[in-house]
Amino acid sequence: MAHTVLVTYSSRTGVTKEIAEAIGEALGGAGLETSVSEATSVKHVAGYDLIVVGSPIYGGALREDVLTFFEAHELDLMNKRVAVFTVGMLPSHDMAGAKGEHEGAVELACIRAPGMKPVSHAIFAGAYDPDKVDFVSRKLMDRKNAPTGDYRDWDAVRAWATGLQERLAA
Ligand SMILES: Cc1cc2nc3c(=O)[nH]c(=O)nc-3n(C[C@H](O)[C@H](O)[C@H](O)COP(=O)(O)O)c2cc1C
Repeated sequence: MAHTVLVTYSSRTGVTKEIAEAIGEALGGAGLETSVSEATSVKHVAGYDLIVVGSPIYGGALREDVLTFFEAHELDLMNKRVAVFTVGMLPSHDMAGAKGEHEGAVELACIRAPGMKPVSHAIFAGAYDPDKVDFVSRKLMDRKNAPTGDYRDWDAVRAWATGLQERLAA
């Protein structure tokens, strides 16, 4: 029987959603039964062999929707293979800084589901379009001299997704 995978995510401006969809397509194309859903709409995780959870980083943290997802499914997630990907603008120009920030954010997020140990954490550069965020967010990003544009590396996304299959065989 084919392995089943859930790819779940939260996304404010659609950047992480599109990465989640690309991961879903890559895994589906590799013959796995894959569904992609927003974290807020997931009711059960028990039937999946692998759960891939994606969140953008805002202000150094994962989105609350994802933290709530971890809390809501805490007991099931303890016994599951979970892989996490985080998306942000820091990885577009400072991977070392991003590693510290994003790994720290995932570590904090894992407190919401004690016992859950992600088998993999990928850090992806995202995209930032000032026209898609509110005034305060724009000012915050201006103050940080954040770059604008789309820095997503689709080859890196697909390569990570494909590599996850090996986790299922292990
Ligand atoms: C107000 C604000 C704060 C942000 N904070 C971070 C951050 O702490 N670290 C980071 O890597 N990226 C940060 N970003 C960049 C977003 O994570 C990035 O634009 C991401 O691709 C958005 O994905 P989404 O459309 O799925 O929400 C921030 C963006 C905004 C607008």
